[in-house]
Amino acid sequence: MKKVVLAYSGGLDTSCIVRWLKEQGYEIICFVADLGQGLGKGEDLGAIEQRALAAGASKVYIKDLQDEFIEDFCIPALKANAIYEGKYLLATALGRPLIAKYLVQLAHKEKADAVAHGCTGKGNDQVRFEVTAGILDPKLEIIAPVRVWEFKSREEEIEYAKMFNIPIDVTKKKPYSIDRNIWGISIEAGVLEDLEQEPPEDAYMITKSPTHMASYAKYLEIYFEKGVPKKIDGKSCSLKKLITQLNEIGGAHGVGRSDMVENRLVGIKSREIYEAPGATILHIAHKELESLVLDREVSHFKEIISLKYSELVYYGLWYSALKEALDSFVESTQKNVTGSVRLKLSKGSCVAVGRKSVNSLYKKELSTYGKEDKFDQKLAEGFIKLWGMPYRR
Ligand code: ARG
Repeated sequence: MKKVVLAYSGGLDTSCIVRWLKEQGYEIICFVADLGQGLGKGEDLGAIEQRALAAGASKVYIKDLQDEFIEDFCIPALKANAIYEGKYLLATALGRPLIAKYLVQLAHKEKADAVAHGCTGKGNDQVRFEVTAGILDPKLEIIAPVRVWEFKSREEEIEYAKMFNIPIDVTKKKPYSIDRNIWGISIEAGVLEDLEQEPPEDAYMITKSPTHMASYAKYLEIYFEKGVPKKIDGKSCSLKKLITQLNEIGGAHGVGRSDMVENRLVGIKSREIYEAPGATILHIAHKELESLVLDREVSHFKEIISLKYSELVYYGLWYSALKEALDSFVESTQKNVTGSVRLKLSKGSCVAVGRKSVNSLYKKELSTYGKEDKFDQKLAEGFIKLWGMPYRR
């Protein structure tokens, strides 16, 4: 019997996929990746495992990948200032190559013939899973049941689940399609498909609305070492704790929402809203610190790198030669990114209001208009003459 390892979430789609693959004659092994989506909070892990088994899986692996996700995916993206189309901090896109890596690993361990996922044929995630799996093991077969199966609607899937006694919580009908991990939440479909409509408040999960957010401003200081956040308000903590804490504080102040129409890799535009309070705070603080320690040319060139980096992540090219090369460039820019940034969170906004670094390139004696001024203004005349010379007629 052929064996397949399926990226399993515990939801309706992937549960039906288990049964459907069984009908196609496969033995199914389910892999549940914990990237901080709240597994074990809303429902216990045992229930997810039971559901997979009830649907027909022969084995279920559940693995906590949060630390690896943060250290090897989110932090490099933070160092690179990778933001897709100016608004999307790439939470979903960053998670896919990691899940794919483990699917392939597990396929090898279990001597499986194929890996499978529950992505639709219209999205970016199928590309990310399959391109990554293809890079890591081109011989593995890849199955994407949602692209080929007969179900046309959620209702048909529910019928199917009932027919095979798959324990699905159908009361939990969500009006949106949601992907969540510790770096952020992606929300699409339902009323969000109407571009003219403001997203309803109930679409947001972890950020408070303007009417419910704290009325006072919150100040906090983040300390970075070589581009990696290490402390909040002087207290060291693990990256996981730090991001979790920033998600809570940011969420309470309504920080980190975005509403955008983005260009998908498969050629369509789609409306998606995002919540990423912790990641937003970290990006703002990190960029601010860089403004202090990177010289102008490195700083401006890095903007180009950031743009390309964000595209590569979005396009599913995490394990590509160019991404690896850009990582080396980015890493070399981070050696002086050590210092603190003080931020003010208030009514949905997050702004840097203070910054300091032992590697600061800011020289007050040059920029001051006070009497400590050491800048020789007379030199400016010659500089401007030469600078403007080629443009004179
Ligand atoms: N558009 C985002 C991306 O391509 C998120 C995709 C998953 N979104 C979702 N709501 N299920 O990375």
